[in-house]
Amino acid sequence: MAAGGPALPQERRLVTDIPGPESRRLLARRDRSVARAVSHVLPVFITVAGGGVLVDADGNSLIDFGSGIAVTSVGNSAPEVVERVTQQVRRFTHTCFMVAPYEEYVSVCEELARLTPGGHDKRSALFNSGAEAVENAVKIARHATGRPAVVAFDHAYHGRTNLTMALTAKNMPYKHRFGPFAGEIYRMPMAYPLRWPTGPENCAEEAFADVTELIHTQIGEQNVAAVIIEPIQGEGGFVVPPDGFLPRLAEFCRENGIVFIADEIQTGFCRTGDWFASDHEAVVPDLVTTAKGIAGGLPLAAVTGRAVLMDAVHVGGLGGTYGGNPVACAAALGAITEMEKHDLAGRARHIGSVMLPRLSDLAARHPVIADVRGRGAMLAIELTVPGTLQPAPDVAKRIAAACHSAGLMLLTCGTFGNVLRFLPPLVIGDHLLDEGLSILERAVASAGPAGPVAHG
Ligand SMILES: Cc1ncc(COP(=O)(O)O)c(C=O)c1O
Repeated sequence: MAAGGPALPQERRLVTDIPGPESRRLLARRDRSVARAVSHVLPVFITVAGGGVLVDADGNSLIDFGSGIAVTSVGNSAPEVVERVTQQVRRFTHTCFMVAPYEEYVSVCEELARLTPGGHDKRSALFNSGAEAVENAVKIARHATGRPAVVAFDHAYHGRTNLTMALTAKNMPYKHRFGPFAGEIYRMPMAYPLRWPTGPENCAEEAFADVTELIHTQIGEQNVAAVIIEPIQGEGGFVVPPDGFLPRLAEFCRENGIVFIADEIQTGFCRTGDWFASDHEAVVPDLVTTAKGIAGGLPLAAVTGRAVLMDAVHVGGLGGTYGGNPVACAAALGAITEMEKHDLAGRARHIGSVMLPRLSDLAARHPVIADVRGRGAMLAIELTVPGTLQPAPDVAKRIAAACHSAGLMLLTCGTFGNVLRFLPPLVIGDHLLDEGLSILERAVASAGPAGPVAHG
């Protein structure tokens, strides 16, 4: 069987249409057995992957600008991940940490204490998915403060479980007809520079004033357990809050005994060019949620935070059968080794320095691109009807489809579905980055004008 990982030829190679006949055959099988609600960005069935490419069942090799939604930052089947997972699988696969502990779990928590922002005394608890980590962060904050309310933001995405659906802003497809949702969640305006009514230059100041006033008048500071925010929003459109907003919000929380939770599930582990996006402005959250990039593709998530908060919860109050599974922990230790060995934070900054000028240049030539934003290897373009802020999701769809047909895996996002986001594996070669950008440039040039806004 062919092996994935970085040794895979790092090339785009199209040998059939996308999807090809073998993927279409598998898709027909899929349709008869898998719930249709679980959808695909691009229905090519992957057989091997590594570095910056995904190879499908027809032998097509696609350039990966998605990393499985910001997960395979170290690349698929990264050597240290494969090595440690293989050794761990041979030794034992599961005991349940709550039944009988093992060193790998402790080592991951030590690494989280070392790498997350702040030099304070920290503790961590491990889980399986990002949503589960967010749920637990809220549980911990409520328990530690004895307060009920949780503040989330417009355009936020925190997951698909009941509590995290309540925190997530966008109805379709995440929440539609899945309610009623968990209570005591309050939504605040997000500091979204492009769409700030009085202009981006006023965004940090006014958004902070709005949020704190709304908290004061509608909830009462003393009733708020936690404020949860993505330091750069993910699914909601790669919204980068203006400098100053996050530090002031964190300070406001500190002054009012509110737990400041940074959801770093998409931004964490080198993606934005620092270990965590909070590092950019030296923000020190009380709790940090992580998942995705933490374990090179295996399911692992964590809540890391101040020991006094984490240890406020009674013995036995946190856990789960699989949380911190030893194989996933081994993968995380391998992924962290890869990140340090290859300076993947530096690599993310390099990717940003290659991509941002090309994207800005593209925006200068195509007024349908209203904004180019992001940091490191977490970048996006927002598409609108030229000269307006009216979203152009139809153009985003056409560009993504053209890229897919040309062998570039690309994801969309945004509350209005009008954002193209770029999340390449941090180990992607410069030649693939260049080629992917050239494909994107051609797709934008041939996308045609924005049509009427499709709702739904
Ligand atoms: C910021 C953020 N929080 C939470 C989640 C939920 O993570 P998961 O899909 O692992 O439950 C995601 C997933 O996209 C995310 O981007």
